[in-house]
Amino acid sequence: MGLMQWERKKIVIIGGSSGIGLATAIMAAEKGAEVIIAGRSEDKLRRAREVVSERTGRKIRTYRLDNRNDGELERFFAEIGPIDHLFTPGASYTRGPLSSDRETAMSCFEGKFWPQYFAAKYAAPYLSSDGSIILMSGAFSQRPLAGGASYGACNGAIESLGKALAVELAPVRVNVVSPGTIWREGQEGTPRGEHFKEYEQLALAGRVGREEEIAETVLYLMSSAFTTGSTLFPDGGYTLL
Ligand SMILES: NC(=O)c1ccc[n+]([C@@H]2O[C@H](COP(=O)([O-])OP(=O)(O)OC[C@H]3O[C@@H](n4cnc5c(N)ncnc54)[C@H](OP(=O)(O)O)[C@@H]3O)[C@@H](O)[C@H]2O)c1
Repeated sequence: MGLMQWERKKIVIIGGSSGIGLATAIMAAEKGAEVIIAGRSEDKLRRAREVVSERTGRKIRTYRLDNRNDGELERFFAEIGPIDHLFTPGASYTRGPLSSDRETAMSCFEGKFWPQYFAAKYAAPYLSSDGSIILMSGAFSQRPLAGGASYGACNGAIESLGKALAVELAPVRVNVVSPGTIWREGQEGTPRGEHFKEYEQLALAGRVGREEEIAETVLYLMSSAFTTGSTLFPDGGYTLL
């Protein structure tokens, strides 16, 4: 992918112990990059180390970190030192309708927006000038469904943040990945599993996405030296239908 020499790159993924973050860690490690992942659960981090090692034969470093805590983010970046790329899929939030309580209304901003804002702030002094940040949004920003007003607005805010940071941090590049719904094993028969079926009618591709398809998009954004301030929508055409 591109001309980037992955084996010379140090890539940090906050929220790399499962889902899209883990798929990205595996793909980056396969390419030979030095990968560091962070998340809250030591157990999930240990399992991620094992999976990456089994799948790629390579070792990754892991750190326990709650990205809602600014102090932990600041210490994390000071400890790991210079880096090339930062990806921030780590998030914990609840989506709910306008009638939801205050905690639910605030949760995407507190659990997804501000953690990425402060990760960018504390990573910035350590990012190489030809490096990049990839923020995580969600295609609900462009095509909200009923029952998630603050969640949709939060993802729209993350996409605006990406543009503003691209201007402020240049020549460091800043981009955003905004996926549609992604398949997850073990959710058959749950409300999320039902949503996977609905999504087949909501996307031009007629199916949900795979974590690896989002990881490919993230690695593209890391490697494309002429791409900054962009949001990519790997969503199977959800935003068009
Ligand atoms: N999956 C989808 O369909 C989809 C679609 C659009 C957008 N997205 C976005 O993609 C991102 C990742 O989704 P995913 O489905 O891959 O999620 P996931 O499998 O639940 O992974 C979330 C990762 O973030 C970490 N994390 C969660 N809260 C954290 C915190 N407070 N501090 C540090 N790390 C934290 C988790 O580890 P710990 O729990 O151990 O901390 C885990 O490594 C989210 O921002 C989500 O909104 C997902």
